[in-house]
Amino acid sequence: MEPPSPATPAARRIPFRPLGGLFEQDDVAAVTRILEDVASGEGSFFPLPEEKEFEQRLARLVGASHAVAVNSCGTALDLCMMALGIGPEDEVIVPPLTFVCTATCAAARGARVVFADIDPNTLCLDPEAVRLKISPRTKAIVPVHFAGLSCDIDGFARITKEFGIPVIYDAAHAVGAMRNGVPIGNAGLASCFSFQSNKNMTTLGEGGAVTTDDPSFAEIVRQKKTFGFVYGSPLRNVTVGFNYRLTKIQMACGLTQLDKIDRIVELRLQRFLRMQELLADVGELLLPPGISRGHACHLYILRLNTSIVPFSREDLRRHLKERFAVETVVHYPAVYSWEAFEKLDHDRSGCPNAEAACSQVFSLPIFPSTSWEDLDYLRSALKQSISELSSRSVSGGTK
Ligand SMILES: Cc1ncc(COP(=O)(O)O)c(C=O)c1O
Repeated sequence: MEPPSPATPAARRIPFRPLGGLFEQDDVAAVTRILEDVASGEGSFFPLPEEKEFEQRLARLVGASHAVAVNSCGTALDLCMMALGIGPEDEVIVPPLTFVCTATCAAARGARVVFADIDPNTLCLDPEAVRLKISPRTKAIVPVHFAGLSCDIDGFARITKEFGIPVIYDAAHAVGAMRNGVPIGNAGLASCFSFQSNKNMTTLGEGGAVTTDDPSFAEIVRQKKTFGFVYGSPLRNVTVGFNYRLTKIQMACGLTQLDKIDRIVELRLQRFLRMQELLADVGELLLPPGISRGHACHLYILRLNTSIVPFSREDLRRHLKERFAVETVVHYPAVYSWEAFEKLDHDRSGCPNAEAACSQVFSLPIFPSTSWEDLDYLRSALKQSISELSSRSVSGGTK
């Protein structure tokens, strides 16, 4: 569908929906089929064959040799830290601009969390800033493909080569992401994906996976997600493990979600590109970088250029909500600003780019089902809000 030229759209409500992808009749049918099989006495909740098929198809999608399905990206990261044997003597380097568990997966093993700065343009962890924080205690680096934009995989690969430090990618935002046309799921030692409800695809609200090209790393993660068992004859229990499994129903839905993930990412890309056009002339806003094919288009994150406007990001978000019924979300406050970090051993020094970004970022409510009229409305709500807040402050209003 051709987007119309921007008009002045009628007032409407645009909530930030807690569903990032599409959930349709084929998903409903996949779930219902399992339940009906069990109810008829024919089926069961035993995870095969769905688990195997889901893992194989996911691995293919993200370009990795192995995928291990788990019940969240948070547990995927936990498992990777355990598989690496991270402990209290160790340090793990992470970005400040991310969801808490990118950092707390290391803290949970007793490790010291070391924050390194982000690139001011991509908002992803900067390999050069990481180099400044490497110490003899550094045992892992956890970059984030922020908002769906692949981070500098080559820069991190050089660090691994030089220092022998493994990289575990937090790919929660990156289902569908590519770098130079190549899927990113085999970068570093492993990648951790999320299928939580907000993400590009969901396995009924929660879910995740570890993907890797390293068969022995995949095997350790697989053992630890199922109480330490190795299935076969004889059955063996070889390590301390947990129950971090996805259910059969979730993986049946994961398969129908995989059928449509290309369509979801395309729908998101078209809307993100249109929003870029619509906001190109709004000098007070810094637009998200790298919106083109290969970006997973998970979050449309704007930055308010707070150095040239007389109001704050929070003033703008409040105005958008109260006057235009547009909901926005902050992805994210700096991880170390959460109160949990008052008690956790960490280093937050030297992260000015992240500090600045954390006070400027806000995400627009753009989803695969967002209409062109909604995009026009978002543009006009943003432009009017900026103009009204600017003139209010000139006439002596609050900052
Ligand atoms: C960057 C990032 N990492 C990890 C997670 C955790 O994902 P999950 O909810 O699947 O544990 C999220 C969730 O929002 C996230 O945004």
